[in-house]
Amino acid sequence: MKKIIFSFFVIFCLQTNLVLSQYKTTDCPVIPTPASYVASSETFDISDKTLQINRTNLPKEIEKYLVKNLKDAFSIQTIISDNSGEVIFKPQKNVPENSYSIDIRESVITISYSNEASCFYAINSFLQLIQKNDVGYYINLGFLMDYPKFEWRGLHLDVSRHFYSVDEVKHFIDLMALYKFNTFHWHLTDDQGWRIEIKQFPKLTEIGAWRDSTLIGHYNEEPRKYEHKRVGGFYTQEQIKDVVAYAQKRFISVIPEIEMPGHSRAALAAYPEYSCTGIKQGVPGIWGIFDDIYCSKPETISFLQKILDEVIPLFPSPYVHIGGDEAPKTRWHTCPRCQKVIKENGLKDEHELQSYFIRQMDVYLTAKGKKLIGWDEILEGGLSPNATVMSWRGSDGGIEAAKQNHDVVMSPNGYCYFDHYQSGNTGEPLAIGGFLPLEKVYQFNPVPEQLSADQRRHILGGQANLWTEYISTMEKLEYMTYPRALALSQSLWCDNTKKPDYETFKKIFIKYQMPFLDRYKVNYSKAIFYAKMEITPNKQGLALRFKGAEPTDSFYVTSFNTDLQKNIDSVVMKSNDSLVLTRENDFPMTIEYTVTPYNNVSGINHFSIEQSHSIGFPIEFKTPFNPKFSNRGNLALVDGVKGKRPWKGDEWLGFTKDTIEFTVDLIKTRQLQNVNLGFLSANGSWIYLPETVQLFVSTDKTSWSELKKQAVTEETFFQEVNKKARYLKVVVISKDKIPVGSDGEGNKPWTFMDEIEIEYE
Ligand code: ACM
Ligand code: ZN
Repeated sequence: MKKIIFSFFVIFCLQTNLVLSQYKTTDCPVIPTPASYVASSETFDISDKTLQINRTNLPKEIEKYLVKNLKDAFSIQTIISDNSGEVIFKPQKNVPENSYSIDIRESVITISYSNEASCFYAINSFLQLIQKNDVGYYINLGFLMDYPKFEWRGLHLDVSRHFYSVDEVKHFIDLMALYKFNTFHWHLTDDQGWRIEIKQFPKLTEIGAWRDSTLIGHYNEEPRKYEHKRVGGFYTQEQIKDVVAYAQKRFISVIPEIEMPGHSRAALAAYPEYSCTGIKQGVPGIWGIFDDIYCSKPETISFLQKILDEVIPLFPSPYVHIGGDEAPKTRWHTCPRCQKVIKENGLKDEHELQSYFIRQMDVYLTAKGKKLIGWDEILEGGLSPNATVMSWRGSDGGIEAAKQNHDVVMSPNGYCYFDHYQSGNTGEPLAIGGFLPLEKVYQFNPVPEQLSADQRRHILGGQANLWTEYISTMEKLEYMTYPRALALSQSLWCDNTKKPDYETFKKIFIKYQMPFLDRYKVNYSKAIFYAKMEITPNKQGLALRFKGAEPTDSFYVTSFNTDLQKNIDSVVMKSNDSLVLTRENDFPMTIEYTVTPYNNVSGINHFSIEQSHSIGFPIEFKTPFNPKFSNRGNLALVDGVKGKRPWKGDEWLGFTKDTIEFTVDLIKTRQLQNVNLGFLSANGSWIYLPETVQLFVSTDKTSWSELKKQAVTEETFFQEVNKKARYLKVVVISKDKIPVGSDGEGNKPWTFMDEIEIEYE
């Protein structure tokens, strides 16, 4: 691959008569990082904030885009001419598809491109190359050559849970374009609102687009609170066409999602006859998974196909997304019409019934020249012949589909769910749960190692999803999307083996991309500037370090003893300084620290180191914790930081096994007193308290004596253990299944633990 890139680089250079040696390889301001970039410290200066553009070979719509962006984001005026100019355009042949180059000389900038899309990509890189100093705008002399890695570079937006206006959707698309995303997955229907006009079924928007109440606060908070206000909205077909055309001008393809058979309560509120029970219910104001889904009888299939008849002509994209996720089979089990379909078609069970349902859509869409795409549940009961799979419950669904020779878009929730928390900071706004910091997004590679070279060809690319249960404003939508979308764009545009490492990416973000996003007034998250507390075990207990975005950051740290209610220390700490907390002396205490302001970014974080004597004890896990919820790994249960309630995605250690076993080494034999174990109950997130905990003690790790078994509560306290032990073994028996009638019924629940506190003499 390196060879190929180099040879195209040489072709571009030869075609532009460029002498490479005058430039050096250097960090490029542009994100996603171009395939090649060399530059010098000399500059092309944009004098008088005016740029002359030669419109020859510049497609008209791209010209308008360039002029508008220069004006709005930079206040740079343009003079457009036909025969001269400081910026000139050249179509190129014999270069890779979607490739472009930018050659910046002292008096002229030449943009070469292979097709209109790559001309547009070049313009977006060009905008990011523009820098400002005290004198004015400039671009470093240099040469940039670039093309994308993946064909599907997507962002999704859920407009059902919260409605976004046409202008807001266009703004979301505008920002996507800056980072060369090319696929906008428009989640148009869900339980809480139907958002697309369907002329044959007007009640879908008359009734289905509106709800009378909306949950406020988190779903897991009891008692739940609601705002009792009628809210909603929908897009007319003319508005949809307008958005699609707008996106097309930005080389972004719009994929509509019409959810089926689940997440259909809004449609069924309007047309209850297509449910199994026929009972009329309103549009829900609460989130979750509902038992009432479309009935699989032929009338429903016909209803949905008629809807697709109106959807298809609005979207030139080859794909139509039909959802397919989270469809409980509760109603289908007892519905005579569904059971009749099972019997008449020789289907084994309700999973095959769902597959049969989806296959009918696949046949229909294929006949109309479209390709069906669905969430990875469409694998269950057998994958429909032409289906493309969007893998969201991790990568396994995508791997399986690729092995079956189906195309795949990777959107695993561990890397691509931008509705998850991006930091554990005190001021982090409410989110659904999960923990996805910028650094983790940066590690996303859409191509799983397990696949052969042939199977890898089925990975079309990847996408991040913006589910909006807890995102009700554009401001918050920007916050959740940026800068994580920049990290994602690196995973989708760049060759994974060539993209800069995370530290370099972070530097580019701080130096070039923050000012760029500021030009567009984007409310991006500054979570990376808040100090993170790094904890490492040491002989006496723990060593704490505070790390910010820059190695030079320093923090003013005030330690406050909660028992004595007074400050015990105030120090300025640099990134490499550490604060040692000893098991014997330092507890309990709460540590608060403030972050030294950087670029006007400042914030106070409150960290509590709460537990006492067992900090830093080595733990061996016989049962592995799930990598999705493994913040601080082996240290998590003894890092002194107790998991917070309500859960914020970080800190807790998550398991999905029936039996969870681990052993704590107390370093020497000690007289045990009390033991406490913290568990999380957040049933809406499928996190349940386990059934029992049992303790065993040993002095040699070979012969164990059993202590009593206890039923689990959120703080499971073993009082007056009064045993001598060097080792403590903990065995947790988790709940087998989520109870009937609850979210996720029948599935294995999560067990979340934090922390183990061991008191001894
Ligand atoms: C999904 O997040 N339910 C696709
Ligand atoms: Zn039914």
